[in-house]
Amino acid sequence: MYICSVSGLETAWIGVKKGVSNDMCPSGGPFCWYQCISLPLGRYAGMMVISSDIALLAELEPEAERLLNHHIAVTKEWHPHTLVPWSRGEDFEPDYEWSPEEANIPEDVRSALYLNLLTEDNLPYYFRDIERMFGRDGAWGEWVRRWTAEEGRHATVIRDYMTITRAVDPVELERGRMAQVMGGKVPEPPSAVDGLVYVALQELATRISHRNTGAQLEDRAGYDILRRVAADENHHFLFYRDMAQAAIEYGPSEAAQAIERQVTTFAMPGEGIPDFYEHSKRVARSGIYDLANHHEQILEPIVMKYWNLPGLTGLNAEGEQARERTIAYINKSKRVADRIVARREEAAANAEKG
Ligand SMILES: [Fe+2]
Ligand SMILES: [Fe+2]
Repeated sequence: MYICSVSGLETAWIGVKKGVSNDMCPSGGPFCWYQCISLPLGRYAGMMVISSDIALLAELEPEAERLLNHHIAVTKEWHPHTLVPWSRGEDFEPDYEWSPEEANIPEDVRSALYLNLLTEDNLPYYFRDIERMFGRDGAWGEWVRRWTAEEGRHATVIRDYMTITRAVDPVELERGRMAQVMGGKVPEPPSAVDGLVYVALQELATRISHRNTGAQLEDRAGYDILRRVAADENHHFLFYRDMAQAAIEYGPSEAAQAIERQVTTFAMPGEGIPDFYEHSKRVARSGIYDLANHHEQILEPIVMKYWNLPGLTGLNAEGEQARERTIAYINKSKRVADRIVARREEAAANAEKG
């Protein structure tokens, strides 16, 4: 038996691999697979959970149910097949080789489509983590499954569009999908509050990325598809934003520390995609998603204003320190964002001149 350094409860280790990785263990200790066999809620047996998460998730379940019901009431059913421009498609001959001239899409926008689709393709791993964080039962479990079903449409409709329009090399795309899913690399927030904060930020970032990609495509069908997907991401964002708000009210000090961890280390999922950083640089260069819109459309309106990090009350010393460090980080990110915007405006002015 082992006393878990996170929950303080007795746990039975079912495997230890020292030195392999510590990113699965919320204690930061050696990588392990463990079962918290003494946890009071049997439904969590066999899952990696920490005791503070169990109390938090139970306390927030009525809010999860309220937000789930609201989500179901306001979202509208839609069908990928009605949006895909099938009449533009042709058979691919056996000796077919793709070339960039096949679709009139700038390289940076092509990179955005590629990253957006392969990110959606990694759904099995997001489902695994989200179910592990929030559980299978009640409103949490229902939300996780509803979210998964909705996300599944995104890959379907974007892939059909990209295949029909020959937007990217279909062979490279399929190899990228295989590499991404087989690699299984996804962000793994260390607690439920971290998870709520991370997914709120990430869903909003995804909404921005899909929306801006569609706007730069110069193709009505592509624009409509990505606008439809972005609308879903917005609903997902609202659920997680408000769940995170409830978690902040429940435990402001723990939430402030989770916000610090997630804001200062934030990265979009997709690290396992081949040439991820090259594609990310192109996406940033195009302005589809970069540090400027991350700061202006995510950090300022959500972390600083909606969650009101500067005005949080009831913080203990650790929470207060986390808040101060996070605000300093966000102020620094504003200076970087301002420089990016100034450079972009200068480049646009120069382009206009001649
Ligand atoms: Fe999605
Ligand atoms: Fe989403």
